[in-house]
Amino acid sequence: MNAQAYRPLTVAQTLARGIVGLAKAGDSPRSDALQLLAFVLGRERSWIVAHGETFLSKPQAEKFAGLCDVRAGGMPLAYILGTVGFYGREFTVNEKVLVPRPETEHLVDEALAHVKARVNPSLPKQFVTVLDVGVGSGAIACTIAAENANVFVEGTDTSSAAIKVAQHNARRLNVIGRCRFHYGSLASPVGDRQYDVVVANLPYVPSADVPRPPESAGFEPREALDGGPDGLAAYRQFLPGAPGLLKPGGMLLLEAAPPVFDELAVLVGRAFPRLDFEVCEDYAGLARYVKLVTPE
Ligand SMILES: C[S@@+](CC[C@H](N)C(=O)[O-])C[C@H]1O[C@@H](n2cnc3c(N)ncnc32)[C@H](O)[C@@H]1O
Repeated sequence: MNAQAYRPLTVAQTLARGIVGLAKAGDSPRSDALQLLAFVLGRERSWIVAHGETFLSKPQAEKFAGLCDVRAGGMPLAYILGTVGFYGREFTVNEKVLVPRPETEHLVDEALAHVKARVNPSLPKQFVTVLDVGVGSGAIACTIAAENANVFVEGTDTSSAAIKVAQHNARRLNVIGRCRFHYGSLASPVGDRQYDVVVANLPYVPSADVPRPPESAGFEPREALDGGPDGLAAYRQFLPGAPGLLKPGGMLLLEAAPPVFDELAVLVGRAFPRLDFEVCEDYAGLARYVKLVTPE
């Protein structure tokens, strides 16, 4: 008798094995295993929970085990599934773009509040304009366009692969008609155009601290993370030109992380010497973004 013969396992047994296998790999083994099993079986997570007694076929069991191994090796779940949730919508992602982070939703909230205040009800066809510098997957740009039909968004990126993903997401969310994505550095592709809102989530990790596999972030593109020796090379290059990008009463939002905020504040102060700006916190109470509004 063949000792290697496949012994069918149920959904519940397979899920339990997956959770054990992923326990060392991350802080959400149950959720990860559930999402991977749902992905393999082409079902909703609720179906998995409700059909614990159903048996898996051998190819299904093997595919699930293989994906658990990949995840256990550190690969972000979003890259395995090819999709991630952001601001209540699904975005396509691949290894060429940063996986959008929940913290970035704060930036979107701020941008949307400003957009709403700038919509002129007596001129409904006049778009409020937004520029997203370092657009990546398009999570910020496409969300803003999807949340407010009076917005026209432009985005730039030095990664042509990222531009393709952003365009794909704009099509997926049915906002491609109000989005333009340009290949190029910082704001150079948009010339002297001015915007109601400018957002940037540029690389801000000091080169020496850029994570490596098997750390999850080590699988993300280096150009999305590496901010040079002190983490601020991209912002240092971007900020001197930032005042020229904003219309009167325009808002600037810059995302970064606590270790670089002191120096980022110096750079912002230098670019906007007569303006007050705020350093705003995320839900965890950590400094997360800079916000300023130019005078009307
Ligand atoms: C931290 S990721 C942010 C992606 C996306 N905006 C988000 O929040 O998920 C930074 C992005 O900036 C892009 N980038 C890096 N340097 C750039 C530059 N000089 N000009 C434009 N984009 C740049 C990277 O390719 C990457 O897509």
